Amino acid sequence: PLVSMTEMLKKANAEGYAVGQFNLNNLEFTQAILQAAQEENSPVILGVSEGAARYMGGFKTIVALVKALMEEYGVTVPVAIHLDHGSSYESCAKAIHAGFTSVMIDASHHPFEENIETTSKVVELAHFHGVSVEAELGVVGGQEDDVIADGVIYADPQECEELVKRTGIDCLAPALGSVHGPYKGEPNLGFKEMEDINNRAGVPLVLHGGTGIPTHDIQKAISFGTAKINVNTENQIASAKAVRETLAAKTEEYDPRKYLGPARDAIKDTVKGKMREFGSSNKA
Ligand code: G3H
Ligand code: ZN
Repeated sequence: PLVSMTEMLKKANAEGYAVGQFNLNNLEFTQAILQAAQEENSPVILGVSEGAARYMGGFKTIVALVKALMEEYGVTVPVAIHLDHGSSYESCAKAIHAGFTSVMIDASHHPFEENIETTSKVVELAHFHGVSVEAELGVVGGQEDDVIADGVIYADPQECEELVKRTGIDCLAPALGSVHGPYKGEPNLGFKEMEDINNRAGVPLVLHGGTGIPTHDIQKAISFGTAKINVNTENQIASAKAVRETLAAKTEEYDPRKYLGPARDAIKDTVKGKMREFGSSNKA
């Protein structure tokens, strides 16, 4: 069923695993991620950035597509449709009214009091509709669609505690050294801060920039309260590689089904691997 993230993430925290957020980019991503979740018997979060929503035809198109595919594939595992890095109250409201079951309000680049104010407004509307809310503090490095950062700024534990208490968010993404897109060298995550934030915040934590984080760090993050891990780039790389290889081997090919089909298979395999790594398989 289509659900919010709230129960999913509480269960993940309690049982010591993390639910993957896999970002949608097109039809094949949507198909692959839903099929992987059902076959792995895993809960799943479909991440939709504002850029991806523009590309795919808007929030309503995505909700209709996901609902239809879930019916067509007989999907019974819990699925959340989540706005990734929502840039404003208006954008979150639009997603909620289109039928999204979860939103992220990313006001992390605004001054703290402004972040609190915007996030509180989103929480009020979202909870009225049974929709869950994720907020962010600090700066995740790298670039994802419209979200561009020069450096990395660690979230402040005191601010994290205050943000949760004053806004009523359901989960928190504290930036602690992770990066959108590929890492240059090994990631250096602030686990000391993560432990501190986990003790103070009292809500499940979210790890952005899940691509390229080694398994031992994933496990450590889960042990410090991380219940949601976002992955996009790794699926994009797998998909692009499959398209390149297929077209290189068949230079006369022009039927998109013949090169996007293999891309879809590659995404599905990648997602299944992540679900096993995060421990969410057979937790639906
Ligand atoms: O919000 C989406 C994620 O944080 C994706 O990060 O593309 O590095 O896997 P990634
Ligand atoms: Zn992110």
